[in-house]
Amino acid sequence: MGAVGLGLLVSGANDPEVAFHGNDFDEMRWRMGELCTEEGAFFSGSGNCVNCHAPDPEGHAMVDENGQSVSPVVDWQATMMANSAKDPFWRAKVAHEGLVNPDHRESIENLCTACHAPQGFHEAHLTGKVGPNGYTMSDLLEDELGLDGVGCTTCHGIDDIGLAGRSNGDLPINPEKVSWGGFEDPWDGLMSGQTGFIPVYGEHMRNSEVCASCHSLYTHTQDLEGEETGQVFFEQTTYLEWVNSAYNAENVQCQSCHMPLVEGGAIAATQPNWLFNQRFGKHHLVGGNAFMLQLMRDQAVELELSATEAQFDTTIARTKRLLQYETAQLEIRQINGAFTSGGGAQPPGQNEWAFEVEVKNLAGHKFPSGYPSRVAFLEFVLQSVDGDTLYHSGGWSHATGIMGRDEGWEPHWEVIDSEGQVQIYEMVVGDVMGEPTQVLERASVLLKDNRLPPRGFYKAHAAYDTVRFGPMAALDVNFNHDALTEDEGSGSDRLEYRVFLPAGMSSVQARVRLHYLSVPALWVENMFEYANESVEIESFQFMFESADRTPVVVAEQSTWAWLGFDDSAEDWKLAPNPVSDGGLTRLIPPSTMQPLEVWLLDAQGRTVQNIPVLLAMQGFGLEDVAVGPFFIRIQTEEGWRMVRGVKAP
Ligand code: HEC
Ligand code: HEC
Ligand code: HEC
Ligand code: HEC
Ligand code: HEC
Repeated sequence: MGAVGLGLLVSGANDPEVAFHGNDFDEMRWRMGELCTEEGAFFSGSGNCVNCHAPDPEGHAMVDENGQSVSPVVDWQATMMANSAKDPFWRAKVAHEGLVNPDHRESIENLCTACHAPQGFHEAHLTGKVGPNGYTMSDLLEDELGLDGVGCTTCHGIDDIGLAGRSNGDLPINPEKVSWGGFEDPWDGLMSGQTGFIPVYGEHMRNSEVCASCHSLYTHTQDLEGEETGQVFFEQTTYLEWVNSAYNAENVQCQSCHMPLVEGGAIAATQPNWLFNQRFGKHHLVGGNAFMLQLMRDQAVELELSATEAQFDTTIARTKRLLQYETAQLEIRQINGAFTSGGGAQPPGQNEWAFEVEVKNLAGHKFPSGYPSRVAFLEFVLQSVDGDTLYHSGGWSHATGIMGRDEGWEPHWEVIDSEGQVQIYEMVVGDVMGEPTQVLERASVLLKDNRLPPRGFYKAHAAYDTVRFGPMAALDVNFNHDALTEDEGSGSDRLEYRVFLPAGMSSVQARVRLHYLSVPALWVENMFEYANESVEIESFQFMFESADRTPVVVAEQSTWAWLGFDDSAEDWKLAPNPVSDGGLTRLIPPSTMQPLEVWLLDAQGRTVQNIPVLLAMQGFGLEDVAVGPFFIRIQTEEGWRMVRGVKAP
């Protein structure tokens, strides 16, 4: 039972592939003129690739089989990576970390810019043009190459040297201006002449390792006085989570999901005009951060971003599509409550309704992954037949954030039986005193990490120490274990909801939703206390508070539940049976089976009437059959069944 949680939600989203229309290209080309055109000794601004890799006005190069543009410049320009050095949240956080630790401010900035402004950082370090404390924010603000974010020549300049073991943005940049790409034998008659960069095939561009050094962030823990404790903390481990997953063995690389290949390939450049189709990875590069993309789209002028509104809309639609189609599956089914199983203390006049919910991660790493502010949470609602809300866990509002979330942090739950409890999949890090902290440099202990592991994730894996579960999830036998086989590595979590409701209800509807929130208000609260000490924090606070922060619904499922439900029952039942004249009876299905159609038959087996399914489960009268035996015929997915009943005089 309980189908996959897709469908329905997606109808509202734009189809990302058709988001660009005719005249958009004119505006885009004009905006591309705003991309960086600096040329350094190791890097070149992304604006210098526009001449041949921007969309083809003739619709010949860089199009898929439907004629839609797959230009890397267009696709990349409105992504988080393209805007990583102008991201106002990042800038505010760098300021925050510096204010908390003023003695280390410049060295912190030198760390943050390594991944968020890699071209500026590496160009400065490789050419020796850095101050004693490295490449700082004031260096960045005057450096166009740095402001270009994770630009074209960042990824394309990464040499294949020990990539798997690298972290913290430590990139081996090619000193000869080689631009590695994913297809063999590129023709270089024009590119190196015009840009100084030579297109060369590099097999490593097809593999996850090229993403590893920026998607692995280890920090050196500091105590509250800013002294290093000598401990290394694994802050972001997206690459290592993937290493400890089934995708690694199955050759499903980061690129497979984040840079999908164009079917049939594409022509890679607009000049010369005689090139032919090659393998072509689309530069979608989306994750889950629809919230910041929306915020940046709405503040694009203020933030001096080059991408157009249409480009941001496309990137946002792709992000939502990834979240809603490729991130998680959700299932819900009724299980025995105290009413049927007979056990447990039952408050008089109440019945216990119970459900099992299963969430399965489909991503190639933990869900959520990456920056530790990310959370996913479950909302669970019980409704009466009339649509009244009877129970609600995990609601959300702009004013309160996630309802029921504890002060400090919310535990990982195996059973939820009160509205004050909510399942939140997240990483919570504590400082040296064990207090939750949002300051990267203070991270010392893992207070909680129940983020859903990827399929094929094992505790015995050599990389487990760097990607371990938090204390509660590690002990939960329903976490990362298959329901039937109990095998480890399912990438899922199962939990129960148990709710007492007043007696008298014969059926209720249960609805569960999985939400994703990239920047919860709770995470930035501490930072905003410094707003009067930093313009970056002050202006981000303003943008944050005026933005729509509604979480993205990743999956949704619902089911009807019946009083008297018994998981171990083998056949359909009528309750009550016999039925008194003028009274109501209702059908109770065995286990989780649900009827498709229900008919009332008389003692001779003649069909008397069709009974609407919901009515059959809630209670129906027998006015149309005589006193004596009658039959109910039930159509299910597995065939049909008959149940015999008796109408008493
Ligand atoms: C190893 C490379 C690396 C380093 C070094 C690094 N970051 Fe990041 N940062 C990332 C990646 C990758 C993400 C995106 C992950 C995700 O989307 O979940 C990110 C995301 C963020 C975000 C969230 C941005 C958003 O829009 O949601 C903030 C804030 C941030 N980093 C701050 C910092 C600060 C402050 C520092 C320096 C102390 C720093 N980062 C150093 C790689 C790095
Ligand atoms: C004057 C035109 C021109 C410019 C400007 C240009 N390229 Fe190219 N690029 C080409 C051509 C032509 C090819 C090869 C196409 C083929 O063989 O089918 C190519 C191929 C590539 C490849 C693929 C290599 C492979 O083997 O997969 C990469 C990567 C690349 N370019 C990156 C860049 C970057 C980064 C810039 C900006 C710094 C840039 N290009 C600017 C014309 C250009
Ligand atoms: C986040 C890293 C990253 C950034 C940023 C990036 N690329 Fe790429 N690019 C790749 C990877 C990885 C491939 C190889 C994909 C494959 O073939 O599987 C690729 C492939 C290409 C190709 C050849 C097609 C192919 O599949 O081999 C061209 C041309 C190209 N990129 C141009 C650009 C340009 C122009 C920019 C800037 C607008 C850019 N790239 C930005 C990572 C990146
Ligand atoms: C099987 C497909 C798949 C593979 C393989 C994969 N990802 Fe993802 N990735 C996703 C999906 C789906 C999401 C959106 C859900 C989420 O946020 O985790 C995502 C999200 C992300 C995010 C944002 C995470 C967050 O929650 O903020 C980052 C960063 C990321 N991926 C990087 C990577 C890197 C780096 C690799 C390779 C080491 C990789 N991904 C491999 C499917 C994949
Ligand atoms: C030079 C460092 C660097 C490299 C190399 C790099 N990334 Fe990133 N990536 C970042 C940073 C920094 C961010 C976060 C930007 C921000 O939020 O401001 C990021 C964010 C992301 C996101 C999250 C986007 C979102 O909207 O949530 C995905 C997905 C991602 N990267 C995939 C990849 C893949 C796939 C590769 C390899 C092909 C790769 N990255 C290589 C630095 C890098």
